[in-house]
Amino acid sequence: MSEEIVIESRSSQESHVVIGHQMLGKWPWPTWLQQDIPVVVVVDPQVEQYLESLLLTLRTGSRSVTVLSRTITEHDKTLETLAQLYRDFGEHRVTRDTVIIAVGGGVLTDLTGYAAASYLRGLRWIAVPTTLLAQVDAAIGGKVAVNTEFGKNLVGAFHLPEIVAVDTSLLCSLPLREWRAGLGEVIKSALIAGDALYEWVKDNREPLGEITPGWSAIIAETAALKARFVQMDLYEKNERMFLNFGHTVGHALENYFGYGTLSHGEAVGLGSLVALRLSERLFALDHAVRDEVKTWLIRWGLPVKAQPFDPAVLMNIMFQDKKARAFGLQWVLLKDIGRPAVVRNVDKDLVTEAFNVIQENPKD
Ligand SMILES: NC(=O)c1ccc[n+]([C@@H]2O[C@H](COP(=O)([O-])OP(=O)(O)OC[C@H]3O[C@@H](n4cnc5c(N)ncnc54)[C@H](O)[C@@H]3O)[C@@H](O)[C@H]2O)c1
Ligand SMILES: [Zn+2]
Repeated sequence: MSEEIVIESRSSQESHVVIGHQMLGKWPWPTWLQQDIPVVVVVDPQVEQYLESLLLTLRTGSRSVTVLSRTITEHDKTLETLAQLYRDFGEHRVTRDTVIIAVGGGVLTDLTGYAAASYLRGLRWIAVPTTLLAQVDAAIGGKVAVNTEFGKNLVGAFHLPEIVAVDTSLLCSLPLREWRAGLGEVIKSALIAGDALYEWVKDNREPLGEITPGWSAIIAETAALKARFVQMDLYEKNERMFLNFGHTVGHALENYFGYGTLSHGEAVGLGSLVALRLSERLFALDHAVRDEVKTWLIRWGLPVKAQPFDPAVLMNIMFQDKKARAFGLQWVLLKDIGRPAVVRNVDKDLVTEAFNVIQENPKD
């Protein structure tokens, strides 16, 4: 089974999101990637075993293929690492024709994508995401960036990859902690999409970490949902904002406890519970939805309570966020499953009360 979704930007640049299982060695490269176009592959050493099938189909005719194997952690998603990649591009004589292929998780695709966006004023690039988070979210939609000492993803661009090849079989080596890191996006997508995705996630009893048909279908649909939202709203003015469900509190929790303490998925899971509680208060959402999401979190080994935290400090962190400062604090809440809404200026007392659902011993 494979599926293809085309995202088109205002400049009519297209991004093809191709989703399938074990497709990498078989999938025909598009005709624009003719045999003489040079490619530079930036690959995470953790996933080099998948390169063979990729290179088998890439190394045709007289094509020059350069492979740069690079370990890039969140800590090195910096301007310094970017500068090193520019030097690598210079040494390997990258020209305007060169196509950059990023094979790895969200850190590697974000940084390599930004190198492609900026080197020689923009090179074409292809993303081959290899983590759950990157397959369903980070590699789709052209937001590419690096961190600075002032915060995450502060220097970046919108630069759509020409192709995003989502091959779920690449996840077979992914550690469980990294699976969990991507599940926040699956949960949020199921809630904002409703319909089949919600039912599939609800009914899924398959073990985490195995690429079963059920998980493949969920991953494919979550990736497709992201592609559809980006297609509707590349610059995040409307529908793309819905993808931030669970992230207002999620990002703040990651920051509060120190990046890396809670995984992104754990933080978004907890953030989703708070957003659902607020949805109950503001839109009379049935609390059975929050109970359902709790059963998913427990089933997948994600927390339903945070370590004790000071609500006032967490609130301050949310208001310091770069988007909150620019536009006021925005919440994505649910009117119902599959019916998200963006809400601004939510009463602070309501938010503090909603924090209680993830506090171990809430003070009342
Ligand atoms: N651009 C966007 O729209 C967007 C959206 C969400 C997140 N992000 C970014 O994504 C980043 C997080 O990405 P991530 O969660 O993929 O983390 P990551 O890229 O750090 O990868 C996690 C770990 O998994 C390893 N790994 C990758 N693929 C593997 C595989 N198949 N088998 C075994 N190990 C594998 C990596 O070496 C790494 O140690 C953050 O920097 C975040 O800002 C970007
Ligand atoms: Zn996220």
